[in-house]
Amino acid sequence: MTEFTVKPIRRRKSIQLLLGFSFIATIGGVLAPIIAYLIPRENAAAYGGPSEVGAPEDFPLNSGKIVSVNDKPVIIVNTKAGGLKAFSAICTHLGCVVTWNERKGIIHSPCHDGLFNPVNGSVISGPPPRPLPQYELVVKEGKVLVGKPLGNIYGERSGE
Ligand code: FES
Repeated sequence: MTEFTVKPIRRRKSIQLLLGFSFIATIGGVLAPIIAYLIPRENAAAYGGPSEVGAPEDFPLNSGKIVSVNDKPVIIVNTKAGGLKAFSAICTHLGCVVTWNERKGIIHSPCHDGLFNPVNGSVISGPPPRPLPQYELVVKEGKVLVGKPLGNIYGERSGE
């Protein structure tokens, strides 16, 4: 007789516990990515100071060379009009890595023929919606040092 009165209560509590756990797990699963999106991340590639990318003679006049700065491709260009400059090598259209077009003396995104000015990174033609962000660059004690980007790199959230 006592078995009939105890078993339904245990089953009901078990079901309530299971439903409660499921509810909390579902809410947690929904909220966790939203919270992770809203909280600003620590800069994933924490800036550890300027990166040495070579000597000035590694970047002769009228050249462009891709280097890695904090695991991001950066193009170092050297032109008569602009001197030594560093720009993000990630195209602002869809993120292709740009190249140096030696014949034209400009930065070229090969995916959709985007062309960029090597003096200021502005778009010359093609679909890119904005200029290539420039990086800080200094020549110090015979070394070319590239610092922080001065704009938002393609694929990174703005405001970080
Ligand atoms: S990705 Fe550069 S032009 Fe499309």
